[in-house]
Order: sequence, then C-alpha cells, then structure tokens
Amino acid sequence: MTERIGLYPGSFDPITNGHTDIIRRSLKVVDKLIVGIAVNMNKSGFFNPEERLQIVEEDIKSIGLADKIEVHSFEGLLMHYATNVGASIIIRGLRAVSDFEYEFQMTGMNARLKPDIETVFLMSSENQHFISSQLVKEIFKFKGDISSFVSANVLKNMKKKLSDN
Ligand code: PNS
Repeated sequence: MTERIGLYPGSFDPITNGHTDIIRRSLKVVDKLIVGIAVNMNKSGFFNPEERLQIVEEDIKSIGLADKIEVHSFEGLLMHYATNVGASIIIRGLRAVSDFEYEFQMTGMNARLKPDIETVFLMSSENQHFISSQLVKEIFKFKGDISSFVSANVLKNMKKKLSDN
C-alpha cells in the first residue's frame, strides 16, 4: 500500500499546544506528516522562519513523534508545495465557528487549484479550542502567563527573544 502523506501548513508563530494536539492526532489519518511552515516575505513575525522551524522540530522531538514527522518551511503556494512533497491530504485544525469562513474559502480555492488533494479538518480538542498564536503573543507582550498554551521550550525561546531585542 502506498504511504499516505499529509501536510499540515501554518505560520506556527509560535507553535501552540493546540497545534501539537492536531499534529499528534493527524497521525491517525496519515502515515507520514510534513509540517509546513509558511514563509510570508511581507509579514514579519515574532520568530523568523528559521527560528520557527527549529522550535517546531524541538517540540515534535520532545513528544516522541520525530520518526513520522518532517518539518520544513515553504514559500509560495501551498498547493504547489503539497504537490512537490507528494502530499495527498492537507490537515487543518478547526477551533471555532469563526475559523470556518476563512478555512472554507481557502479549501475551496485550493481544491480548484488541485482537485486531487483533499483538505481534512480536525476539530481542536475541547481543552485547546480557544488557543491562538496571535493571542499567545499578545498575552506574552503584556506579561501574562502563557505556560498553559505553549510548551516550556516555546516559552523559553520567547523569553530569550525578548531579552535579545
Ligand atoms: O496558521 P495560518 O496562518 O492560519 O496558516 C495559513 C496558511 C499558511 C495555511 C495559508 O496562508 C497558506 O496556505 N499560505 C500559502 C500561500 C497560499 O497558498 N495562498 C493561497 C491560499 S488559497
């Protein structure tokens, strides 16, 4: 049987416990997962793409899933990248109804571009469904406690980034 390759794309700025939950559970759907960190030249993030890649790799290693998961960054269209890496499934997490419209639109346009690649949605686990990278950064900026939203590794790297700048 051919190996089913999934691609989980996102900004991962930073990776949260919500992302890790989706990564872990997506291995029930695919044999191998590629976590694709989208590089957007017009958007400067908290972490640069190289830092995000390293942090995601470290987090995946620490949950013991490194043998089934590869982490890469990509530029340009998701569907071109998915084709290049042989992915037949795009994995996306759905947190709330508010995610739906954006995801619906993106999935429809991606399907038009590449009809043989399916997007599969996993609902966030009930204890993770409110977590967003955007809000994690905001809470961190105002010195709130983000330790239940991200790994200790992410927290350490965010503190380091702050003290380096
Ligand atoms: O975690 P995010 O920020 O919601 O991820 C969005 C992402 C990276 C999946 C999306 O912006 C994307 O696919 N970017 C690559 C460029 C692309 O293919 N754009 C057309 C989408 S229809």
